[in-house]
Amino acid sequence: MAVNLRESWWIRDVEVPTRVVLAPMAGVSVQAFRRQGRRYGAGLVCSEMVSCAGIEHKNERTLGYLRVASDEHPLAIQIFGSDPRAMAEAARMVESAGADLVDMNFGCPVRKVTKTGAGAHLLQDADLACRITDAVASAVSVPVSVKMRRGVEDGSRSCLEVGPRLVEAGASTLTLHPRSAKQMYTGYADHTLTAELVELVDVPVIASGDVTSHAKAHAVLAATGAAAVMVGRGAQGNPWAIREIVFGDAVHPSREEVAAELIVFIRETVRELGERRASGFLKKFYGWYLGHGRFPRPFKNEVTQLHSTEEVVTRLLAAAPGAAELVERLEAELPDPDDDVLLDRLPISVYGGG
Ligand SMILES: Cc1cc2nc3c(=O)[nH]c(=O)nc-3n(C[C@H](O)[C@H](O)[C@H](O)COP(=O)(O)O)c2cc1C
Repeated sequence: MAVNLRESWWIRDVEVPTRVVLAPMAGVSVQAFRRQGRRYGAGLVCSEMVSCAGIEHKNERTLGYLRVASDEHPLAIQIFGSDPRAMAEAARMVESAGADLVDMNFGCPVRKVTKTGAGAHLLQDADLACRITDAVASAVSVPVSVKMRRGVEDGSRSCLEVGPRLVEAGASTLTLHPRSAKQMYTGYADHTLTAELVELVDVPVIASGDVTSHAKAHAVLAATGAAAVMVGRGAQGNPWAIREIVFGDAVHPSREEVAAELIVFIRETVRELGERRASGFLKKFYGWYLGHGRFPRPFKNEVTQLHSTEEVVTRLLAAAPGAAELVERLEAELPDPDDDVLLDRLPISVYGGG
């Protein structure tokens, strides 16, 4: 039976208004990304992963600190670490910052993370994974979720052994990206495992991996019985893809719309990260937004070479003057940044992945 992607569903007592979840992506899921995702129809958005390192007095190479605003909800904040007590304390902080869901990263394949016993390593240490889940679920009153890969080694089916145990330990939902940690992002996401996981647990499962269109989202939901799909790379610089996935109408944004969304994204990111960090961080977004045949390649290349974000904004407005009015409209709807909650003891890790 076809699933309606515009239908709401529940993670315990949290209502998620559509069946599309915006993926957590380190180096991507800044506040502007999450907020835009909600605006384009994602029912749930996720933060980048924040580390317990601050609590454990360990150093973490950091992208900064998370800011949470009123227009991001429902919002999952993702934490990672390997010490149950530190994870529980981080979970409490995340809850008091307003997270609707505490998500745990048991899928990050990056060596710097797995060698500390966190991320995908936990798929090989089910006892510790369960102790962390139990500690976190006992520490907060919001639902707790776990995002995992299929396992560490190619062909692994660890997720099917660990997943049901995590539910028993207190996870209210599981997200599966059915690639191995070894695979990183190569090959394809094997959603036959997602279907098997759905059969094994009585909580909603979110299917992550290779969902880039309405047709694919339907196919994955129908084949797996998952409650929702998660969209990651397909939404990079492309909020219109989220709209297409949720609503099924092909969306071809005008140059004005693309420029306006990018300008708002730039300004919000500068506000969040500061000009120095934002100018480097944003370069990949220029390619993502201005590609897809939306602007000529020489224009895209020129924008990427500019030094300051202000120059980029000026150049975009010169190329698409009608964007100015759209920018004004979009900015008028933003909540007051002074009302943001800052999670300043939990650094955003530069080593994310999952
Ligand atoms: C650049 C990048 C960063 C990522 N960072 C995270 C992360 O911090 N936490 C996490 O759980 N998954 C992370 N992921 C994995 C995604 O959430 C998602 O599971 C994966 O990309 C597969 O979905 P997709 O095919 O829709 O991109 C990351 C993926 C990418 C491409």
